[in-house]
Amino acid sequence: MVFIKKETFLCLLISTTIIADKCPQPCTCFGITVTCTGKGITEVPNDLPKETMNLNLNFNQISHIPKTAFQGLYQLKNLQLSGNQLNENSMENDTLNISTIETLDLSSNLFTLIPRELPPNLLRLTIFYNHITRLKVNDFVNSTSIIYLYVNDNLIAFIEEHTFDPLSSVTEISLSGNRLLDGSISRSIFMKNIKMTHLDISINRLRTLPDMSYFPSSLTFLSILGNNITVIPSNAFKRLTNLTHLLLWEGAYTKLEDNAFNGLDNLYELNIAEDNVSIVTNMTFNGLESLDTLWLSGNHISKIQNGTFSSLKNLRIFWLDFNKLASLEPEVLDTQFLPHLVAVSITGNPWMCDCHLKWLREIMDKGPFKIPDSHLVICDGPAKLAGKAWDDIKPSDFVCK
Ligand SMILES: *[C@@H]1O[C@H](CO)[C@@H](O)[C@H](O)[C@H]1NC(C)=O
Ligand SMILES: *[C@@H]1O[C@H](CO)[C@@H](O)[C@H](O)[C@H]1NC(C)=O
Ligand SMILES: *[C@@H]1O[C@H](CO)[C@@H](O)[C@H](O)[C@H]1NC(C)=O
Ligand SMILES: *[C@@H]1O[C@H](CO)[C@@H](O)[C@H](O)[C@H]1NC(C)=O
Ligand SMILES: *[C@@H]1O[C@H](CO)[C@@H](O)[C@H](O)[C@H]1NC(C)=O
Ligand SMILES: *[C@@H]1O[C@H](CO)[C@@H](O)[C@H](O)[C@H]1NC(C)=O
Ligand SMILES: *[C@@H]1O[C@H](CO)[C@@H](O)[C@H](O)[C@H]1NC(C)=O
Ligand SMILES: *[C@@H]1O[C@H](CO)[C@@H](O)[C@H](O)[C@H]1NC(C)=O
Repeated sequence: MVFIKKETFLCLLISTTIIADKCPQPCTCFGITVTCTGKGITEVPNDLPKETMNLNLNFNQISHIPKTAFQGLYQLKNLQLSGNQLNENSMENDTLNISTIETLDLSSNLFTLIPRELPPNLLRLTIFYNHITRLKVNDFVNSTSIIYLYVNDNLIAFIEEHTFDPLSSVTEISLSGNRLLDGSISRSIFMKNIKMTHLDISINRLRTLPDMSYFPSSLTFLSILGNNITVIPSNAFKRLTNLTHLLLWEGAYTKLEDNAFNGLDNLYELNIAEDNVSIVTNMTFNGLESLDTLWLSGNHISKIQNGTFSSLKNLRIFWLDFNKLASLEPEVLDTQFLPHLVAVSITGNPWMCDCHLKWLREIMDKGPFKIPDSHLVICDGPAKLAGKAWDDIKPSDFVCK
């Protein structure tokens, strides 16, 4: 027989009864969490338990919310309304003026603007997958407490000057998957966001790199991948000395000017994969002394000059796969300059397996670093070895006539 203390039993009994009594149809209630996901409801239930802290109304057909909907929920903290039919006219004034709300999910609705009145102590606003076309100067004027702002995957083509100025506590902004063009972002747009560490402006329509001279130096993560930017000018990121992750892949990046990454003293990961880079010089990667991982996969690099990577004295992982390299001089990967090198991926290059490349095949056997996927490193020539994988041939096969 299970022994339950009398008080505990009583307590359990009472609380289940209370909650069972109060749980509105067709929701389920579990303690302070009320879940009404995907029930086809068109209105917020009007008999919600007063102590509700988490209210999940995702994936219903709610298109209108009266002012009284959440009144009396004295500890409502987490309100989820994603996947409904809401737009900026769906809520009466003051509906969301509830001081306890900290997280609000309005994603996958029909908003074309940021709703007028956001909860005054909001910490996290999620409003992705809507039809917002523009961010306006007053959008966040009463939302100074927001820390996480996700307005990604909308149709935003313009952000008015000073829009983000009130967000003095924000640490993360995602604008990914919008329609930002050159000129959509003014150069001082993030100037007041001095606590921001993560900024995502990936998958937009930028053709030139934004002027980042007023981006906050608190940034540690910056993603500009999936745009149509072709040139990275010298010193483009100079102020961003705290940046640790810079993502520039799947763009049209073609020209990396000398000293492009100068100033990124703390950068740990640089990803320029799946771009259009064909030329790197011994000045391209200057300044990246903390870099751990470099992705250059899927570009058009056919030649690498001596000294190109010699400033990368902390490099461990190097992705050089799927380029146009036929050969490589040993000085390029000299561990005297790259003492921490652990692995270099070289698959998908048209290697000319002759005496000039013998040194690299030897490294595959003996180190000092790993060359992974040896069965996928294939010779393009000479004729005798064309199509052969490196794990099927020996260093002594790498000969010149
Ligand atoms: C709601 O607020 C807006 C702007 O503050 C105001 O123009 C409008 O008249 C208000 N509507 C009602 C019904 O009070
Ligand atoms: C929100 O409600 C408070 C009172 O609870 C009121 O003082 C404040 O003006 C309201 N804010 C807005 C933007 O209407
Ligand atoms: C900001 O709050 C003030 C006072 O609560 C209110 O008068 C004003 O209309 C609000 N502004 C916006 C854009 O919501
Ligand atoms: C940069 O990072 C350091 C160490 O994490 C931190 O102390 C400093 O405040 C950061 N700088 C800015 C401008 O946030
Ligand atoms: C990128 O820019 C080039 C010209 O600079 C243009 O031809 C191309 O269509 C653009 N691609 C996208 C996805 O906007
Ligand atoms: C890639 O670079 C070449 C020049 O190196 C240029 O002609 C071509 O337009 C670029 N492609 C894209 C998609 O930017
Ligand atoms: C960089 O390469 C150029 C030739 O392209 C050479 O003149 C110069 O000395 C090299 N600089 C360093 C630091 O290796
Ligand atoms: C690279 O360096 C090696 C040795 O320092 C030298 O023999 C070779 O000619 C250099 N190659 C180029 C292209 O500078």
